[in-house]
Amino acid sequence: MTPVIEVEGLRKVYGAGDTAVHALRGLDLTVQRGEYIAIMGASGSGKSTLLNILGCLDVPSAGTYRLDGIDTSDFAEQQLSLLRNRKIGFVFQSFNLVPRTTALANVELPLVYAGVRRAERKARALAALELVGLTDRSTHRPNELSGGQQQRVAIARALVTSPAIVLADEPTGNLDTDSSREVLGIFDRLNASGRTVVLITHEDDVAAHATRTVRVVDGRVAGVLV
Ligand SMILES: Nc1ncnc2c1ncn2[C@@H]1O[C@H](COP(=O)(O)OP(=O)(O)OP(=O)(O)O)[C@@H](O)[C@H]1O
Ligand SMILES: [Mg+2]
Repeated sequence: MTPVIEVEGLRKVYGAGDTAVHALRGLDLTVQRGEYIAIMGASGSGKSTLLNILGCLDVPSAGTYRLDGIDTSDFAEQQLSLLRNRKIGFVFQSFNLVPRTTALANVELPLVYAGVRRAERKARALAALELVGLTDRSTHRPNELSGGQQQRVAIARALVTSPAIVLADEPTGNLDTDSSREVLGIFDRLNASGRTVVLITHEDDVAAHATRTVRVVDGRVAGVLV
């Protein structure tokens, strides 16, 4: 079986010279298909840096990253975004929805980039919105939705391409208890249906949903709790 994520000796340096920040210092991580991983660690330990690289939003300074068996090391920007569009669904703490357009149009966006035709786009976006329980909000704009609903739209957008992996950087960080519970319920269902989920959290009760917790300390994986 090929792991869905294989990272070896990952390093990331921001800046250069005296002011250089070594955000990742030789990090190794393997994630099997179908796992649900919680990434925890102190502020500044390198969690978001790692997730951005896993999501092909950024590239490492050194080390290798194999995504679904594909070595991304020599990939140019364009190849990376293609890979990202095919394999990755990314959910941000601050939702990152396009403000002046509807929930449906937000969810359709990755399919526009993928060149999917209009009718199929709409059908798939509506199905994704149904999955997160927001069929009745498809014509609303982000400012007409609650935080929890906005995050569910963002999750629908992450899912609409049927990605192998869902990555989420503190997805419940801006949500109240009830909305957090709903969002975590969606991730639970996604994982139960076979999808790989990797999320960053500072909260033990969020991490409790995962099948494995990975602790990042100073840019490396410290210890693994089962
Ligand atoms: N674009 C950047 N330029 C320079 N330094 C950066 C950049 N992004 C992150 N860093 C630095 O890299 C280190 C790791 O940052 P990162 O955002 O990965 O931490 P984190 O574990 O996600 O923290 P938090 O829990 O606060 O979100 C920090 O010291 C941070 O200041
Ligand atoms: Mg972070």
